[in-house]
Amino acid sequence: MIAPTWVQLVFLACGVCFILALKGLSGPKTARNGNLIGAAGAVIAVAVPFFYKPDGVDHLHHVPLILAAIAIGTAGGVYGARKVQMTQMPQMVALFNGVGGGAAALVALLELHEHGDLFDWFPLAATAFTIVVGSVSFAGSVITFAKLQELMTSRPVVFPGLPVIFGGSFIAAAVLSVMLVNQPHLWIGVVLALLGLVVGVLLVMPVGGADVPIVISLLNAFTGLTVAAGGYVLSNTVLLIGGTLVGASGTFLTLLMANAMGRSVANILFGALKGGSTLGGGEASDRPVKSAGPEDVAIMLNYAERIIIVPGYGLAVAQAQHSLRELVDVLSERGAKVDYAIHPVAGRMPGHMNVLLAEAQVPYEQLKEMDEINGDFKDADVVLVVGANDVVNPAAKTTPGAPIYGMPILNADEAKQVVFLKRSMRPGFAGIENELLFEPNTTLLFGDAKDTMSKLLNAVKAL
Ligand code: TAP
Repeated sequence: MIAPTWVQLVFLACGVCFILALKGLSGPKTARNGNLIGAAGAVIAVAVPFFYKPDGVDHLHHVPLILAAIAIGTAGGVYGARKVQMTQMPQMVALFNGVGGGAAALVALLELHEHGDLFDWFPLAATAFTIVVGSVSFAGSVITFAKLQELMTSRPVVFPGLPVIFGGSFIAAAVLSVMLVNQPHLWIGVVLALLGLVVGVLLVMPVGGADVPIVISLLNAFTGLTVAAGGYVLSNTVLLIGGTLVGASGTFLTLLMANAMGRSVANILFGALKGGSTLGGGEASDRPVKSAGPEDVAIMLNYAERIIIVPGYGLAVAQAQHSLRELVDVLSERGAKVDYAIHPVAGRMPGHMNVLLAEAQVPYEQLKEMDEINGDFKDADVVLVVGANDVVNPAAKTTPGAPIYGMPILNADEAKQVVFLKRSMRPGFAGIENELLFEPNTTLLFGDAKDTMSKLLNAVKAL
């Protein structure tokens, strides 16, 4: 069924909305508008089928059921998005992503059931692809959700037969896909879906909790490709455009994150199978360090003219962003030049620090990307590292063999004074010691960042 020209034009406009949305989402200033434009495109795309009859035929059946499903989906989405905590955002994305892949797989199964006999080889190949990859995306996303929500262990789960079952299911899915193209039977589609579920579960099981955001991005790319293939099966332009955009942007995001961590996607996915990779753990060091109280650090900050803040995962855990912003406001009012240095993989999800600091209404101009600010550290009087560790660990430059070796880092080690706010001597995500903690110009301010930050703020205000 070919949609009339006006529908094609509206779908094209929706596609333009999605492209503008992606452009908007690429910067914190424009992200909100980008999101709204994308949402508007999606609403229009969903509404259009209610307003036309291709070739004069009523193509929509069970309209009350469709409307009920839309109402339930909308209510669930709005409730979930309003309720979700910032730190739970990755699992929310995983869930949305999973249902997208699952829905595409179900639609492809339905098309196979109803029109499979009429399909040429190419739409049948697209149907097989949609069923398998949509199921992988659904099952994988459910496991990522369970890991991040701590419904199951977030440690890598590996068992002896895993590579064999994974590889076997993968090959079986490829063989059955070829069979489906030759004989479009529903049972083959159902078996393909089951194999996809097995592959999805086994793909994510060996991934450690902290690597899961990268896998979510990869599964997101899978869902995009699934939806694009589904768009081909259904002759639906807007699904084709939207799916391709999601597929491409998810792939880029995955590669960018892996690069920023100095690791390959293969190492993230399969490292645990080789007994290496998936980071985490690490003992607390008992080497001596220089520590100080909030009053001493307040004096240091009060005399500094150039200050750089390095936020990290611990800032998000402690939810200290509001008092941090207040501290920066006070120091700026007193004449210091203060910026935030944002490492691309600080925290545990893409854009984590940008979102966290935007929530505390930090002006965008103060947020500096790594490449933009890395040359400024040598002129900084004080670098305040708030709940960050790996992103300033010089081992990335100096220690071949370290899990983060090769990862670009913020040059905090070049500053005159460095102050770390952290609770203990435990390492960060990479599980390795940070030599910067033991340097003579480094001071540690121990405690939960929320508590120490408010003490520090009071001490600075009292000066
Ligand atoms: P980390 O290296 O994980 O260091 C976090 C630091 O925060 C730790 O030193 C921890 O020390 C401290 N901390 C935790 N809770 C705290 C609290 N309540 N108060 C004060 N301090 C607290 O974080 P990072 O520097 O942001 O680096 C991110 C790491 O995650 C990188 O290795 C990156 O590759 C990885 N990663 C990032 C992503 C994305 S996309 N951002 C995804 C997956 C993995 P204590 O325990 O002693 O307090």
